[in-house]
Amino acid sequence: MTDPNRRTLLLAGVGASTALIGGAVWWRSRNAGSGPSVGSASAERSLADTEKSSAEAEPTEAEPTVANLRIPGREGLLAEFKLGAEPLLLRANEAAFALFSGAATPLWHYAADVAGVAMANPLLSIMRGQTLHVRLHNALGEDTTIHWHGMHIDEANDGSGLHPVAPGDERVYQFEVRNRAGLYLYHAHPHGRTGMQFQRGLASALLVLDDEEIALRQRLDLPWGERDIPLLIADKQIGADNAIQYEIGADDWIGNRVLINWTPEPVLDVVPGLYRFRLANVANARMFRPAFLHRGEPLPMTLIGSDGGLLAKPWPVDDLFLAPAQRLDVLVDFSELEPGDEVMLHSLDYVAMENEDEATFQPNLMRHHPGAAPMGSAIDLMQIRVVATGDGARVHSPPLPPTLSSLPPLPDTGAWPLRPFVLRLDDAGRWLINDWNMHLNGHAPMFEVKRGAREVWEIRNSMASMPHPIHVHGIQFRVVRRTLSPPDIRGRAVAGDGLGPTDLGLLDTVVIWPGETVAIALDFAQPYRGPQRYMLHCHNLEHEDMGMMVTFAVVD
Ligand code: C2O
Ligand code: CU
Ligand code: CU
Repeated sequence: MTDPNRRTLLLAGVGASTALIGGAVWWRSRNAGSGPSVGSASAERSLADTEKSSAEAEPTEAEPTVANLRIPGREGLLAEFKLGAEPLLLRANEAAFALFSGAATPLWHYAADVAGVAMANPLLSIMRGQTLHVRLHNALGEDTTIHWHGMHIDEANDGSGLHPVAPGDERVYQFEVRNRAGLYLYHAHPHGRTGMQFQRGLASALLVLDDEEIALRQRLDLPWGERDIPLLIADKQIGADNAIQYEIGADDWIGNRVLINWTPEPVLDVVPGLYRFRLANVANARMFRPAFLHRGEPLPMTLIGSDGGLLAKPWPVDDLFLAPAQRLDVLVDFSELEPGDEVMLHSLDYVAMENEDEATFQPNLMRHHPGAAPMGSAIDLMQIRVVATGDGARVHSPPLPPTLSSLPPLPDTGAWPLRPFVLRLDDAGRWLINDWNMHLNGHAPMFEVKRGAREVWEIRNSMASMPHPIHVHGIQFRVVRRTLSPPDIRGRAVAGDGLGPTDLGLLDTVVIWPGETVAIALDFAQPYRGPQRYMLHCHNLEHEDMGMMVTFAVVD
């Protein structure tokens, strides 16, 4: 029997290792010394791997699928919708979508119908300063919400589990968008069931625009939807019936298939030119380490933005860590490649640092995930094929400006009060934040912050732990320093205090690696009145649902 509030006891996992098979469906693990081999025909690979894995949980009639990446369009799944003055009605419900060959896949999703155009999980866009006005109708059989992940927001609109919407009920979310331009998320957030609802499909993206962003777009001349493309990356555990599997109470929910923008194992044709990709991790638990491999070598990328929008300056990088809920904005230059060349958006292998087995607890990860690559394994995410432009020319882009945005430098936080946090696993297999766990301590605030206060939160992860993507509701923060970081992270430092390129912008989610201490700076200036309760939690959604979440309040 699985206790939904605790991590699985090692002794309960006898026989688990037999499930650690290497037969990933589409990807191949490349850490066995065979070296990267990018560019083999995707169709061949899909066929071979499908045959190999057909004895597992895969549909027997599966054909090689080479699907073009879904780009947000006018209708259907991930349609793009520009929010205006009219409220948008989103109905949380279930319907089947043809995602894989064979049977359609039931998805829980946000459905919209505007003037006869049906959309599912629309990518919403809005200008900063405008009022977002969305009405949620819950047509599911259980409580749900819409949480506006990353937004500066008041409690009533935050959509956390404190304000569930019952089946058949409605709730209006209406707030002024105060965030900088960037790609944010919206997703279901009911207490104890976020992982399940998110995995079944209740998650999408909110694109915020502002003048700075529009000026950069014009300058770089990268048309949105053509050479500026959002990539919402998830892994899902898909069964023989093509349905999404989920079991409440199981640990870290990783999956056997990769979907980007709801396209399994996608292919993207690019012209020889500059591209902008908005990478978003919409997986429950898996951290990716994206790189664009050409002939086995990473193509240089330029990091230009993070969760909360553009960085001040561009940074060259080869690969990046992208943890659940994080977003990264990168430029990749294909202009030196030739038509016919192939590139693989690949998640490089990394040391997963799942150290908590030292404390005699070990997630029996593979039991529920036949065919899934273990955490930290190399995974192919998307095949990219270079094709000629109509006239055979290369597309030249103007040089990147040395300053991307007006993001101010990190403030001097020396005099800001320090609030310490410790992340750890207790002897009963519960993840704790300062010895609190939502299931033990309930929803009363663990602490209060004065409105207008500026604080440094120093978050230490114990050594016998695993990486935790820690997320704060209602605010964007800055990273001040990283100490005692593992070598993979220390080696990425480009600034003082151990900060890597992805630490230099505004964030709402930050990874704390085992043994590491990360200090973040938060400014609680906000225009709301009265106490506002928010969540601080791990965005590994199984950790969140197991109670690795606390409430805090901003008060006058
Ligand atoms: Cu994206 Cu509290 O979560
Ligand atoms: Cu959030
Ligand atoms: Cu966690």
